[in-house]
Amino acid sequence: MEKVGNHNSISRKLILSLALMLSISLTSFAQDAAPVADASTSAAPAAATGGDAAKGKELFNANCAACHKLDAKSTGPALRDVASRREVGWLYKWIHNSSDLIKSGDADAVKVFEENNKIPMTAFPQLSEGDIDNIIAYTSEPKAEAPAAVVGAAPVAGAEDQGTGISNNVILGALSLVMAILIVMLVLVNRVLRKVAAANGIEVASKEPSLPVWKAFVRNQFLVLVTAIFLLLSGAYFVYGFFMQVGVDQNYQPIQPIHYSHKIHAGDNEINCKYCHSAARVSKTAGIPSLNVCMNCHKSISEVAETTATPEYSKAFYDAQIQKLYKAVGWDATSQSYTGKTEPVKWVRIHNLPDFVYFNHSQHVTVAGIECQTCHGPVQEFEIMKQFSPLTMGWCIECHRKTDVKMEGNEYYTKIHAELSKKYGVDKLTAAQMGGLECGKCHY
Ligand code: HEC
Ligand code: HEC
Ligand code: HEC
Ligand code: HEC
Ligand code: HEC
Ligand code: HEC
Repeated sequence: MEKVGNHNSISRKLILSLALMLSISLTSFAQDAAPVADASTSAAPAAATGGDAAKGKELFNANCAACHKLDAKSTGPALRDVASRREVGWLYKWIHNSSDLIKSGDADAVKVFEENNKIPMTAFPQLSEGDIDNIIAYTSEPKAEAPAAVVGAAPVAGAEDQGTGISNNVILGALSLVMAILIVMLVLVNRVLRKVAAANGIEVASKEPSLPVWKAFVRNQFLVLVTAIFLLLSGAYFVYGFFMQVGVDQNYQPIQPIHYSHKIHAGDNEINCKYCHSAARVSKTAGIPSLNVCMNCHKSISEVAETTATPEYSKAFYDAQIQKLYKAVGWDATSQSYTGKTEPVKWVRIHNLPDFVYFNHSQHVTVAGIECQTCHGPVQEFEIMKQFSPLTMGWCIECHRKTDVKMEGNEYYTKIHAELSKKYGVDKLTAAQMGGLECGKCHY
């Protein structure tokens, strides 16, 4: 009878500690999930303005993210809560055609235009008022959530890393707690069993002296192999993390949602870079073309020529990529019409300077007349796009020291040139002598 009683107490202890373990791990997961629930409830008021924030985000990323961020000034002003400073009617007019509104003499429009160095904003007559409502709903979302990932924001972006870092920590913490509890439980069970044995007069055979743990370990080749692999993998992980932190992203070559070949387009078919990256001439960013630009040609090009196929990539592979493009823009090749069902392509962003650096494409491409290839490498030969230059501060400075500023045909420079070349006693001026080494020029 006594035995049964003892047996019961063991299992009661087991069940008790199991319950404890479960409740602890559950609460720590619940904590993890809580902020998400918060965010969705607090987003509700924004949705109440009538728009769908999720759709708005897609539209924003596809049309606006090239020039706007939610919380920071980009080419255009930050758009978070724009609805609180502008009326909806004004926003419709502005987004449909901002230059019309400016020409009409609207005071707000003229003011914001002048505050932003008179950079014209693209007109979006194709966006319906419903679309704009959705975008407004998205911009009205509270900041609590991690900021919207701009079309294909680099996967190494700090914010995202931190986000997953925290939840990983919570999970790791919970797991190690569970482990600790398991160990304590085993010790307890062992002790109880020994007591039971003692009570029943059973002698527990004492262990004969065995090998030291490390010797046993070394003799077990399988364990050694597994440990070696584990150490190598975790070592590689940390080394990789270290380099990413230093910002060495040179040759970063992510896999894109559509296999898009610069070699075929810019190389074999000699399409000008600026046909697609048209913003590079006139604005800070070069921008990724919208899929409508692709359709200018691909309405009629639905498959590649037999000769385009290479041993590495077959014709069937390329044709499937064009089908992906059709699916994304909602193009029905058989009826030659748009179905209206679109799903934006999320290109992975490759080049990404830290936020505290100011780099302007038009300054380099148009004013200085530098070829894209000087900085981006022989893009027309890239089957898959990659980051060619290191994009470090040393790289920028090095070129500013070496490169002469193009003076001819640039009235703005004639006078400065005359003054500065007298000062330095030289005929030609480098970008560095023009002020290209001043911290404030590149850092906000
Ligand atoms: C080519 C770059 C560009 C694109 C693309 C763009 N904008 Fe703009 N936007 C600007 C600039 C620049 C300004 C500042 C006014 C000016 O200089 O014309 C601006 C101003 C605005 C303003 C006024 C902000 C204020 O404080 O009053 C709103 C609203 C706006 N943009 C919304 C949008 C939306 C919505 C989209 C996408 C559908 C979009 N923009 C796409 C460049 C752009
Ligand atoms: C037919 C359109 C088209 C043409 C022409 C074109 N590109 Fe692109 N480019 C794209 C698309 C789409 C992407 C995004 C997909 C990718 O990264 O491969 C891209 C990506 C890029 C990127 C990387 C962007 C990032 O995420 O950092 C660079 C740099 C670039 N192009 C430079 C060039 C240069 C230089 C030329 C001319 C030699 C050129 N492109 C011609 C469409 C084009
Ligand atoms: C100026 C015309 C033009 C534009 C604009 C254009 N393409 Fe192409 N595209 C072509 C031609 C030409 C081919 C090759 C046909 C062949 O080899 O027979 C091609 C081939 C392709 C292929 C198959 C080969 C590959 O690169 O994987 C894909 C996918 C493709 N294009 C996607 C795009 C996308 C995405 C865009 C927009 C960013 C775009 N194209 C813009 C003309 C164009
Ligand atoms: C002086 C060097 C330089 C030249 C010249 C240059 N780029 Fe860039 N490019 C950069 C840097 C630096 C970035 C990263 C910008 C960032 O992260 O803000 C970049 C980014 C890009 C991107 C990614 C999207 C964006 O706008 O940030 C594209 C696309 C691109 N460049 C295309 C081009 C094309 C096309 C040309 C030629 C018309 C060109 N670039 C000329 C240095 C250059
Ligand atoms: C291939 C050479 C080259 C590279 C690489 C380069 N630049 Fe420049 N940069 C120039 C030249 C040339 C000028 C002078 C343009 C002009 O005529 O105003 C210039 C001008 C500038 C200016 C304006 C300076 C002024 O006096 O107003 C800034 C800011 C700038 N560059 C930032 C950068 C940053 C940031 C990088 C690196 C991400 C970079 N540049 C990389 C060649 C380069
Ligand atoms: C021609 C443009 C340019 C000029 C001028 C410039 N910087 Fe930078 N700086 C950069 C770029 C680009 C980066 C980002 C490098 C990276 O991501 O690895 C950077 C990064 C930095 C960093 C962060 C370093 C790191 O490890 O991330 C500091 C600090 C800095 N710069 C300070 C300065 C100071 C101080 C000056 C003036 C003496 C200066 N910079 C002038 C372009 C410039």
